[in-house]
Amino acid sequence: MESRLQWIVVAFLLFQDTHANEYEFPQGKPPAFVTPGQHYRIPAGASVILPCRITQPGSYVLAWKRNIAVLTAGPIKVSPDPRIRVLPSPTIESPSTSNIGGVPELSGGGYSLELRDVRPQDAGDYICQLGTIEPKEIVHTLEVLVPARIHFVSHTGILEVTQGQMIKLECRASGNPVPSVAWTRKNNVMPSGERSVQGLSLVIQHADRHSAGQYQCSADNGVGEPDTKHITINVLYPPEVEVEGATVHTGIGLEAQLVCIVYSEPAAQVLWFKDSTQLGITEQHATRAKGNRYTLTIRNVSQADMGNYSCVASNQHGKSRGKMVLTGTATTPVFTSPVLGSERDKYNLTWSVNSHSSIVEYRIYYRQQPRHHSSHHHHSDDSGDFRVPKNGTRTANMKLEWVSLNIMGPGVVNSIYPHSMPPPYPGVTKQEMSQTLFNLIPATTYEVRVQAKNDQGWNKASPIFRFTTRANDMENLIEPSAQPAVYGSTNHGHGLSSHQNRPLIAYGLYYFICNSIFLFVQ
Ligand SMILES: *[C@@H]1O[C@H](CO)[C@@H](O)[C@H](O)[C@H]1NC(C)=O
Ligand SMILES: *[C@@H]1O[C@H](CO)[C@@H](O)[C@H](O)[C@H]1NC(C)=O
Ligand SMILES: *[C@@H]1O[C@H](CO)[C@@H](O)[C@H](O)[C@H]1NC(C)=O
Ligand SMILES: *[C@@H]1O[C@H](CO)[C@@H](O)[C@H](O)[C@H]1NC(C)=O
Repeated sequence: MESRLQWIVVAFLLFQDTHANEYEFPQGKPPAFVTPGQHYRIPAGASVILPCRITQPGSYVLAWKRNIAVLTAGPIKVSPDPRIRVLPSPTIESPSTSNIGGVPELSGGGYSLELRDVRPQDAGDYICQLGTIEPKEIVHTLEVLVPARIHFVSHTGILEVTQGQMIKLECRASGNPVPSVAWTRKNNVMPSGERSVQGLSLVIQHADRHSAGQYQCSADNGVGEPDTKHITINVLYPPEVEVEGATVHTGIGLEAQLVCIVYSEPAAQVLWFKDSTQLGITEQHATRAKGNRYTLTIRNVSQADMGNYSCVASNQHGKSRGKMVLTGTATTPVFTSPVLGSERDKYNLTWSVNSHSSIVEYRIYYRQQPRHHSSHHHHSDDSGDFRVPKNGTRTANMKLEWVSLNIMGPGVVNSIYPHSMPPPYPGVTKQEMSQTLFNLIPATTYEVRVQAKNDQGWNKASPIFRFTTRANDMENLIEPSAQPAVYGSTNHGHGLSSHQNRPLIAYGLYYFICNSIFLFVQ
């Protein structure tokens, strides 16, 4: 092989020498390259044809070299590599000359170098040299594009960690160009909330149950398909319990269900308690688990069943408790009347509750909304106490204390059951009620809370509901055109409010400062 190659190289040089002198500048012009040297980016496995064409046919030998190794000389392939081929290229001026028999290099035009099944190690410079006295050459640079491939993954299969542990996943990839690595998660966003995270490694500082799942690293450089590897993270953690309803309303003789949602890895054992007594499976109590949903069913609820319940979920990493109250009291009242009343001095308040026994009494608390009320400060709304507001807001003829009004319940409002039917009433019964509040100030906002009492006692008072009385009676608003234009400008109402504006602003500022100081002190 070696000797053959040397022989050809020698022959080539001789050939060049003898013929070059004889045929130099046959048309008085030196030959030149038509094809400039170029940079080729070829994916591995593909084929490439590197062109080399000269202006004039002549006796000059074209040789392809890679570094110092001669690959071809004229039409002759020197390299033993079977992937290499020499292809004659026709001249531009006389494309048909190559069809004429004879020595191909004399018919000119040059030779392309074909390289099939390109490999990464083929990358480099390919020189097409024209054997004139002063050798001329062009240089093609071959870059071999290699698809991304992940050659190292920090974990394979399932990675098990305990809660709070740091997780570092790593994926290293090679390819040309250098691939970028991105992390994604199956059917989920990344713990950071992003869809994907770039980088060779992924760090989760404190693993928790939300970090568990299947992750994948993907290396891509735009050549071929990206390469992907999967890592599954399993996080072991103590159970976390959520209750579906912290207060469950029921009635005597009914069936009640208490539900705990338990998150746990490994799976938790779940026990049910009433106060501190563990509940066994009896005629009356049934427990069920479906997925992470644990249900305690209490059949034929009796008075003794009312009270505090808890589910306790435990595994080897810890335990957690979910608390619930089973009560026969009515649900929290829901208001159904509009926020803007239809009259100046009275308001028809309507609400409803769900209760399994008839409501025997309602209690309504109402007051004029304190002036300093700001919709951004709801903190006292659900505190459940009805303290008289602090000094400074009080003005003559304004009632800011809560006024309470007790009214008798009407019994069950349900056409299916006659009024005379004694409790318990089967099923959930919606009970509606209304009460007109009198002696109200026009164009004024009031706050109301309602509480209901049935045979199980008083329920939890409603959150504050706000309504506003009319500045004018409905009739005036419905037909403004019937009124004189001056009267219809509602000067009366505006006069009242503008009169109150100054102290209001002054107080508002005072309240703001006080509140800021309060927040600051906190
Ligand atoms: C429900 O319990 C009461 C006693 O608490 C009993 O008299 C009644 O028969 C029970 N009803 C059913 C359907 O088991
Ligand atoms: C239920 O628990 C609350 C505190 O969580 C307590 O105030 C109440 O007295 C308990 N009720 C019963 C019936 O034990
Ligand atoms: C208050 O509203 C309710 C429900 O719309 C209605 O049934 C009731 O008659 C009204 N009461 C008065 C006094 O208008
Ligand atoms: C509240 O007002 C009363 C009378 O207007 C006054 O005597 C009392 O000192 C005030 N209290 C506060 C805390 O401002």
